[in-house]
Amino acid sequence: MSAPRQDPDPLRDPRFFTDPYPTYDRLREGCPVRRIPTGSGGRPAYLITGYAEAREAFTDPGLSKDTARFFADRPSDRDLHPALSRTMLASDPPEHTRQRRVATPLFTTGRVRALRPYITRVVDRLTAAWRPGGEVDLVAELAVPLPVTVVCELLGVPESDRAPLAGWSHDLFDATDTGRVDAASHRIGAYLTDLVGAARATPGDGPLHSLLRDCDEGGLDGDEAVSLAALLLVAGHETTTGFIGNAVLALLRHPEAFDRLRRDPDLIPGALDELLRFDSPVGVATFRYSTRDLRMGGVDIPAGFPVLIAPGAANRDPAAFADPHRLDLDRDAGGHLAFGHGIHRCAGAPLARAEAEAALRMLVTRFPDTRLAVPEQSLAWRRTRLTRGLTALPLNLA
Ligand code: HEM
Repeated sequence: MSAPRQDPDPLRDPRFFTDPYPTYDRLREGCPVRRIPTGSGGRPAYLITGYAEAREAFTDPGLSKDTARFFADRPSDRDLHPALSRTMLASDPPEHTRQRRVATPLFTTGRVRALRPYITRVVDRLTAAWRPGGEVDLVAELAVPLPVTVVCELLGVPESDRAPLAGWSHDLFDATDTGRVDAASHRIGAYLTDLVGAARATPGDGPLHSLLRDCDEGGLDGDEAVSLAALLLVAGHETTTGFIGNAVLALLRHPEAFDRLRRDPDLIPGALDELLRFDSPVGVATFRYSTRDLRMGGVDIPAGFPVLIAPGAANRDPAAFADPHRLDLDRDAGGHLAFGHGIHRCAGAPLARAEAEAALRMLVTRFPDTRLAVPEQSLAWRRTRLTRGLTALPLNLA
């Protein structure tokens, strides 16, 4: 099978954003590795929708994440700030290995455990005015501010700067306006450059000072330190927002699952993997391209083409998860690919879990009879293939 069929823009169809799963199924059933026209640098891309093929692709050294190298000899009208275009998520070993070594210790079980009381306090503060009988937008009032507040705390961003930073980070995921994305990247890059510069100029023992010490000890230069801070800010924002909204919606659609968590909130940590699998916050993972001729899922991928791996599709592959379109809190969903796989696997996964757990715990204990405040069909989804998340989730609290 060396000449896979070409689809007309399957990832740009408006129906895809509302419900990507029929599209993912159709593509995967045709062939789990498909050539599609929506690549980068004027090239079509190869889209991977099968679970086994996605796992393999995440670890194939023939796929590079060095975006700068891909675009070095290709015309691009993009103008991202270097702190955001040259993160470790857009690099290969050995640069990646060096930066990852500094990032990993930030999210150890112990570090995240120590953050839990703070996370719970943020959830309590954000929902302090919520009352039974009230109507709230879970996305705007909790799922958006929670991750950005926590990551700003980790980076030592002053309270007064958090709102604009959150706005720019949100703009960064606007798939419809690349000018807006580029502008947001420059605002974030400039802000973090100043923040890091100020911390270096004034000795102290705040969280940013500690991160900068780790960067120095890990051999990261000044630009790399800013870039790591930028990655932490943006990688944990829309993704965790999407996760919290998607998880709550999935539970509202499945009252029996909601009921189990309400009766025993200690089941929540064990339910998170199935919730991540069921409606994955990262639909299509970040940019990769083939550095040599490859063969994946029986398909030839020539050197020099973008390759898109879709965790959202892989996690609904019936070959990996029986009855994949069913939310089943009893299944072993531990092998899901929602956090990616291999050397770029999500560094902040334990933090994302802790935040989602705190949000769900609050909801099932304080508002156990909560319902959707609008018909399900009227819910709107963000129009990007990278992250899957609701633009709003209106709830009647009870
Ligand atoms: C539910 C929420 C989250 C999801 C679903 C998620 C998903 C992912 C995925 C799929 C990747 C790999 C992308 C690829 O290989 O193309 C990734 C990488 C990464 N994530 Fe997350 N993420 C989440 C939350 C967070 C948080 C809270 C942080 C930190 C504050 C974070 C930091 C990172 C970093 C630093 C990387 C790059 C790792 C590397 O290049 O080695 N993520 N994430």
